[in-house]
Amino acid sequence: MKKIGVAILGLGVVGGGAYRILTEHREFYKTTQAVDISVECVLEPNRARLEALGVPDEIVANNIAEIACDPDVNIVVECIGGVDVAREYVLDVLYGGKSVVTSNKELIAKYYHELERTAKRHSAGLYFEASCVGGVPIIRTLYDGVQSNKITSMMGIINGTTNYILTKMTEEGTSYSAALKEAQQLGYAEADPDADVEGYDAAYKLSVLSSLAFHTKIPYTKVLREGITGVCEEDIARGKALGYRLKLLAVAKQSEEGIEVRVHPAFLKKEHPLASVAGSYNAVFLTGDSVGDLMLYGKGAGDLPTGSAIVSDILYAASRVEPRYSTFKNTASPEKDVKFVTDFASSYYMRLTVNDKTGVLSKIAAIFGKYNISILELLQTPESDKATLVIVTHETHEAAIKNAVAKLNASELAKVEAVLRVVS
Ligand code: HSE
Repeated sequence: MKKIGVAILGLGVVGGGAYRILTEHREFYKTTQAVDISVECVLEPNRARLEALGVPDEIVANNIAEIACDPDVNIVVECIGGVDVAREYVLDVLYGGKSVVTSNKELIAKYYHELERTAKRHSAGLYFEASCVGGVPIIRTLYDGVQSNKITSMMGIINGTTNYILTKMTEEGTSYSAALKEAQQLGYAEADPDADVEGYDAAYKLSVLSSLAFHTKIPYTKVLREGITGVCEEDIARGKALGYRLKLLAVAKQSEEGIEVRVHPAFLKKEHPLASVAGSYNAVFLTGDSVGDLMLYGKGAGDLPTGSAIVSDILYAASRVEPRYSTFKNTASPEKDVKFVTDFASSYYMRLTVNDKTGVLSKIAAIFGKYNISILELLQTPESDKATLVIVTHETHEAAIKNAVAKLNASELAKVEAVLRVVS
């Protein structure tokens, strides 16, 4: 039987999950995959983590050099996170000809090109299913499931932490900070929670996924990124009353006008297939020219779901005679002929405080008219001499809404308190 030795760098949430799956399923993989996968080494300085997982002392390495030159190690799993040390360690083991499996989306989004070049030079594999959308096999789907298609759009909830927070705030009225704390305790959040709540994590993932889906370079710096820290509980509640659910949405579209890639909070009608994706669950809704619509759904974060993706990559790597490389080069600059669309089309939710006086509403409506923005819904709540106005528009463009907001704020009529995109 084929024998494969694995080393795991980092036994935090994800590395620990992978360790557990590999040790608990060793016999299962012998019978179902005809491969004996043993964890030969781990690199983890935290004794508590080693003890919690029952890792035998004899497999604990002292440094990366021991792993890079260990002849019994064929595949190295990188679960350190961050990019500086992770990149250095990954390069070290690739130089040694060992294949790498990583869950590190920032590393893949920023350094894929360099890592792939090194991997090829040393005949090593480089696999990263676990870097995007936890246990959901989206990368394998893009490679092996829908490669016959021209993908025209991809829309998804691809960050478990923010989805957990927004679900808790929407369904249970939990405060933002309490919900974030829970997500951290459950092991969904990145070490630096800003990576999740400011949308960086989702932007890295969208850069990787859209580059694969559209077969071109889409640097993460091209992804419009807005997090959820500016979202008010009031807007979540008002949107909910109107039949919307707020999500941190990732959108990638390809058309004749160009490519649009964005991560931002957005309201979805509660009947939308992505609106009911709750808690740490993630989903990606793809549209291909042949397959039509396709939705993948599952846990986007956590130890065993992400460990599942890591171990699947290990089994895939173990089954290959030659490594398989992806078809994208995620460098810092896109191809010269790729045009990025920034003035994209969307509907909008707007909350305004207005003076409750005769004629105000018609003047506000005139400003919307001036920018060719058509109003779909309007709800006014009186509050002494002021009123809160919630407006949902028909589809318009980003530039039009920005101009209207600037005009409204410059007028005596209203103060725009919040603007959120509405996606149908
Ligand atoms: N922090 C990430 C998330 C983990 O919340 O989705 C999985 O990438």
